Amino acid sequence: MAVSPSSPLSVDAYRQQVDAAAEAIRARTPLQPRLGIILGTGLGALAREIDVEVDVPYDDLPHFPISTVESHHGRLLIGRLGGVPVYALQGRFHLYEGYTPREVTLPVRVLATLGVDTLLISNAAGGMNPHYRRGDLMMLTDHINLQGANPLVGPNVEDWGPRFPDMSEPYDVALRHLAERVALEQGIKLHQGVYVAVVGPNLETRAEYRFLRMIGGDVVGMSTVPEVIVARHMGVRVLAISVITDECFPDALEPISIEDVLAAAARAEPDLTRIMKVVAARIGAGDPVPTAGSPAGPAERRQDHLDA
Ligand code: HPA
Repeated sequence: MAVSPSSPLSVDAYRQQVDAAAEAIRARTPLQPRLGIILGTGLGALAREIDVEVDVPYDDLPHFPISTVESHHGRLLIGRLGGVPVYALQGRFHLYEGYTPREVTLPVRVLATLGVDTLLISNAAGGMNPHYRRGDLMMLTDHINLQGANPLVGPNVEDWGPRFPDMSEPYDVALRHLAERVALEQGIKLHQGVYVAVVGPNLETRAEYRFLRMIGGDVVGMSTVPEVIVARHMGVRVLAISVITDECFPDALEPISIEDVLAAAARAEPDLTRIMKVVAARIGAGDPVPTAGSPAGPAERRQDHLDA
């Protein structure tokens, strides 16, 4: 069996792990959600809004990594949010914990295998845009991957997606418009901007924040981008929102602790929860209509170009 140069696990074995985890989940409930949610920092309260039918600790799922961060619980909730069937991943995995990019993204592969076509993601991030304040929310319009890692490295599984997936619009335009409308209706301030992904776990130096701002970042964080890359690879549309947990202005930088980060996330939690809940309900009601997405659009043409 061919072994990937990037990992001791062959891509065939990885695929079998994904299928086995999906099968184990399928066996637990007849519910077949098309909506997935990654509950990062700041979305713990959303879990309480879900009418949970099945609650599975990650330890009970074959091949799921175990979360090592205390502020992230590791469980899959299956139930209804605003009446809409959802899978909610409560707890995610980070590269800084020592997981490989493939391990970090296994839950997203599993949800897409189960039929999820829309993914709502939340995360905590440091705000570099001077208009942002601690406790604000920012919807991602784009990202910059500075993690030096990519979950698609290694042999490609053609059934999952193309070798060279398009990234011209990683965050679905129709979903962004929906979230923007919902935030307006609810009277919640929602910035829009670019997320830079770094590995962490240390926060950045002043010089690094200055650099990340200069290259076009509005916020910086340690998650989300691997999951988005895998979701887009499998044709899943994504909406992602950051909670700004600290102000990263290089000329006025204050030391920050994890307690500060969690306190800011807790402050923003009710607004983020409300946006996500209403967005989920609207998606369940058929709004927005799925955007003509990646596979048949410009991505395909770019693909041809690369293959030529
Ligand atoms: N940098 C990186 N990740 C973060 C930050 C930060 O300042 N704040 C919350 N997550």
